[in-house]
Amino acid sequence: MTETTTPDVGRGASITVDRLVKSFGDQRAVNEVSMDLPAGALLVLLGPSGCGKTTTLRMIAGLEDPSGGRIRFGDKTMADGDSGAAVPAEKRGIGMVFQSYALWPHMTVRANVEWPLKVAGWGTAERRRRSAEVLGMLGIDHLAERYPGQLSGGQQQRVAIARTVAPRPQVLLFDEPLSNLDARLRVDTRAELVEVHRRSGATSVYVTHDQIEALAMATHIAVLKEGRLEQFGTPDELLENPQTAFVAEFLGSPAAVLIEGTVASGELMHEGIALAAAVPLPDGETLSAMYRPEAISLAEQDGTGVDITVLESTPSAGRFVVTVRRGAKRIAVVSETRYPVGARLRLVLPEEPAALFDAEGRRWDHLA
Ligand SMILES: Nc1ncnc2c1ncn2[C@@H]1O[C@H](COP(=O)(O)OP(=O)(O)O)[C@@H](O)[C@H]1O
Ligand SMILES: [Mg+2]
Repeated sequence: MTETTTPDVGRGASITVDRLVKSFGDQRAVNEVSMDLPAGALLVLLGPSGCGKTTTLRMIAGLEDPSGGRIRFGDKTMADGDSGAAVPAEKRGIGMVFQSYALWPHMTVRANVEWPLKVAGWGTAERRRRSAEVLGMLGIDHLAERYPGQLSGGQQQRVAIARTVAPRPQVLLFDEPLSNLDARLRVDTRAELVEVHRRSGATSVYVTHDQIEALAMATHIAVLKEGRLEQFGTPDELLENPQTAFVAEFLGSPAAVLIEGTVASGELMHEGIALAAAVPLPDGETLSAMYRPEAISLAEQDGTGVDITVLESTPSAGRFVVTVRRGAKRIAVVSETRYPVGARLRLVLPEEPAALFDAEGRRWDHLA
């Protein structure tokens, strides 16, 4: 990356999503999603396949009309699902990068990048200056005179990103742009995308199902599940203070561990082990106790702890991530010891859990 690039900082718009709904027939693909994203943020829409990420992104882009709720950029309404009013996609000042990068095969890299500028009426000299700038930003200025067919997949994706960033959009949208790249290239490219986001000054929305990618890139994360927003916040907020059992088990490497217990005489019990004391609920109610990965450990069979079986041990920075099975559940624990597959051990838990969740997976806080 060259240092001559002029940063376009401060161009981004804040994005407000207010009770956004999208229905397909009687299915709600997006169900009452609300969030306030500050200008210049990089929001990751995160969740399993089919949870409504792409549909949310397409409504922000203007490629899909909401069935209800509103989207605003700054104080300008882009779409109102109740009145049906919508600013067309091409008037929203957005740039979008997809998983498949449709470059013009008969145009050079430079011509591909200059094309949207030409369409927008930029002069020749201005176009040339800007294309050199963004190609430099993505480290592909030496490829300017090549044709897409002469480039690798990773290089083509960079050209697609350069072309998107070139017209200085106020909002950048990405839908799983790294999915077609191999593991190593994904890691390198995501760091560059964060840099592109930062230097563009745009507000970005980035869709992925990969929580590691989300934690690496995001200033803000919105976790979606079945069209509903589970939680919106900074990566630290979601890791430190998950509001749902789903978020607790979805995020983190390793993620937090949830153990289900049943209330008996004011204690939350799991197979003879007290998970939490002073639980003011009737006997027989169930809660899940959450433990942070750094608070749990593995021990040999004797002593108190939850019985588990080792599935695998993966070396990690001088230690091991040991994946164990507890009934149908898989749990990852960081350990100093490499345990053999099939070893029967105990999961040692701290005296008190970090959080409790009710049977519906919502945070349950008896002190609040
Ligand atoms: N054009 C459409 N017509 C009908 N159903 C759709 C359409 N687009 C998406 N869906 C449905 O909406 C849900 C959310 O889809 P999508 O937003 O693509 O999820 P994600 O990107 O998180 O994988 C899915 O159940 C999907 O099948
Ligand atoms: Mg999708």
